[in-house]
Amino acid sequence: MAGHTSVGHTPRWHYVVTSAPESWEMALGDIQRADLSARIIESLAPGLFVVQSEFSPARLGDALWAQGVFVRHVFPILETVDCCSYDKAAIIQAATCLGRVLDPTKTVSVQTRVMPGVGMTPYDLNTPVAEALTDRGFAIDVKHPDQAVSILCGPSKAYVGASSVKDNLSDWAGGARRFAHDPQSVSRAEFKLLEAVELFSIALPKAGRALDLGAAPGGWTHILSDRGLQVVAVDPARLDDRVSEIGLVTHIRATVQVYLSRHVTGPEFDLIVNDMKMDAGLSARMLGECARLMKPDGASIMTLKLKAKHPHKQIKGAVQILSRHYRVVGLRQLFHNRREVTVYLRRRSLERS
Ligand SMILES: C[S@@+](CC[C@H](N)C(=O)[O-])C[C@H]1O[C@@H](n2cnc3c(N)ncnc32)[C@H](O)[C@@H]1O
Repeated sequence: MAGHTSVGHTPRWHYVVTSAPESWEMALGDIQRADLSARIIESLAPGLFVVQSEFSPARLGDALWAQGVFVRHVFPILETVDCCSYDKAAIIQAATCLGRVLDPTKTVSVQTRVMPGVGMTPYDLNTPVAEALTDRGFAIDVKHPDQAVSILCGPSKAYVGASSVKDNLSDWAGGARRFAHDPQSVSRAEFKLLEAVELFSIALPKAGRALDLGAAPGGWTHILSDRGLQVVAVDPARLDDRVSEIGLVTHIRATVQVYLSRHVTGPEFDLIVNDMKMDAGLSARMLGECARLMKPDGASIMTLKLKAKHPHKQIKGAVQILSRHYRVVGLRQLFHNRREVTVYLRRRSLERS
């Protein structure tokens, strides 16, 4: 397989698609909503499959940015190499040759994933391919690349592609955004907020006030106060001592319903975040009620917790409620989301709410 194939006049592309293991059907649904002709041609592992589509990488990427939720990462297969367990040199050569489809004025990262049971590590391929691309004049940028050479090594085949990371939906191999462990962190939920800020390119306010709904044990509050925001943290549960002792943090030990019934001031918050463990529709309604507390140019980041059945219906219902007050700017199942999705919202102008 090299580049796309054509049957009649219809070009067909093959893509490696990655989602959370339990979300693969929804991820396929996302692609098929854009391109009705798309179909799975190989299932490699839960949440890892090869799809055939008539859409080019740029068109598929645009469609998934606009409407997709569950696809975490996608890359076009431009070459395959058989028996990859034995033939590192062939994979390195195939990946290096794909430099020809890349823009030499833009940065590139080599992103390798190796499936279990294959006798090599990503490092075995990343380093020689990156060195060969450097020799050809490419600037390597691992953290914020413009383009990626993507390699997935399966037990009998390596899939190799080259594309813009925007079309891939993520700067990271397979969309797996890992953060270094911070000994100061108070909950793993912190990674969700960090990932959302990065993926949706959110410019957090440098000062001002934030409201954190469902704040305990305090991971999100910790991040926001660390960035200089005064945080009102609402949760009936206890905050970690390291967070409750921060001077910028006020803990309201109550449910959001009680907080809203007592809190009657005008718009005062620049940012409202909501990670409440709550039905998605109810959580959206609560955030809707909070719109009156948000400044006109305010932003919000929330998670929607999903029940097993009909996730799209739950998302659609919540988005309808949110849309009365907010514009949905981003909606995605992040690498750090489990049975939930993350939504990035901006306040609609006040007269429309
Ligand atoms: C996933 S945890 C939040 C984790 C938090 N974002 C962090 O970074 O540490 C969900 C929280 O929602 C809170 N919660 C559930 N229902 C709530 C309600 N009605 N009002 C306020 N908080 C609520 C729970 O007490 C729980 O602490």
